[in-house]
Amino acid sequence: YRRLRVALLGAGAVGSQVASLLRQHADELADRAGARLELVGIAVRDVDAPREVDLPRELLTTDAESLIVGADIVIELMGGIEPARTYLLQAINSGADVVTANKALLATHGPEIFDAADQVGAEVYYEAAAAGAIPIIRPLRDSLAGDRVQRIMGIVNGTTNYILDRMDTEGAEFADVLADAQRLGYAEADPTADVEGYDAAQKAAILASLAFHTTVPLDAVHREGITSIDKQMMDAARHAGYVIKLLAVCERLNAPRPSRSGEAAYRDEISVRVYPALVDRAHPLASVHGANNAVFVQAEAAGNLMFYGAGAGGVQTASAVLGDVVSAARRHIAGGVGVGESTLANLPIVPIGRV
Ligand code: HSE
Repeated sequence: YRRLRVALLGAGAVGSQVASLLRQHADELADRAGARLELVGIAVRDVDAPREVDLPRELLTTDAESLIVGADIVIELMGGIEPARTYLLQAINSGADVVTANKALLATHGPEIFDAADQVGAEVYYEAAAAGAIPIIRPLRDSLAGDRVQRIMGIVNGTTNYILDRMDTEGAEFADVLADAQRLGYAEADPTADVEGYDAAQKAAILASLAFHTTVPLDAVHREGITSIDKQMMDAARHAGYVIKLLAVCERLNAPRPSRSGEAAYRDEISVRVYPALVDRAHPLASVHGANNAVFVQAEAAGNLMFYGAGAGGVQTASAVLGDVVSAARRHIAGGVGVGESTLANLPIVPIGRV
């Protein structure tokens, strides 16, 4: 197999899992991608910082810029706007395909990053930027490209779902469960991003942009967090047959518009909002527990679809990142066109009774 040089920027909860899975599953990933994915280095702020996953010391560096030079694929898992934005643009301009989970960056500078990639024929992969392990970027961008999405209702923040769920099921207090969510690696470095709805608003902007084939700027997203939700509110909701969930709602509205002729006229408008909502306990979104996420999509022809799974967590989110890395590698070896394909694994087929 040809070797592709993979540079990783960031070794936090997700980055360290990506590094370890890349090495652990190297042979299988080579078969899937049609190329050996050689991790050439991991850029970190502090090479001596304690890490949950043991990473080879010789791969760690504080010099991200040198690492980017000559890489075929750059994985950005640092989070935040700068220096992530500068590094991603450098990677794109030096001919790499890029994989990122950086929702804050894409929600605020998405057009700049995508335009830079278009200019040089590079690709930006970001399946892990919304709803963790759940495949939702490709379904919205590709699988549903022939349909018209009318509405998305999503639970897209694992931390707040975990908190609200434990308040609902155990009568737990907000502050106690937030500490647990941090300990379990669900929360952002600054959990304000989770509990005040900023993280969900960034994901809503990304999902709405894909669903409605437009650019939804972050400041157009209405945002409310969950810090004002208390035990009494949870109890009142429960008694009325509802559960409180932080929802991201992205809707296409067919709004009336004034017309000179006086005849009825309509135009499509988009509303994107994040707020604690009362969800009927019979709705599938009501049974999304813990740090799971779910994205309920209503499309004109397809009808209702629901995507469900782990919305946060290092190894879970690493799954989405690695899928992007395989896609990037396949495209790379296909010469920037086509999607490539994996080598057949030729596994034996087990008769039904033996499963
Ligand atoms: N802090 C985020 C969450 C991580 O809780 O959903 C995944 O984006």
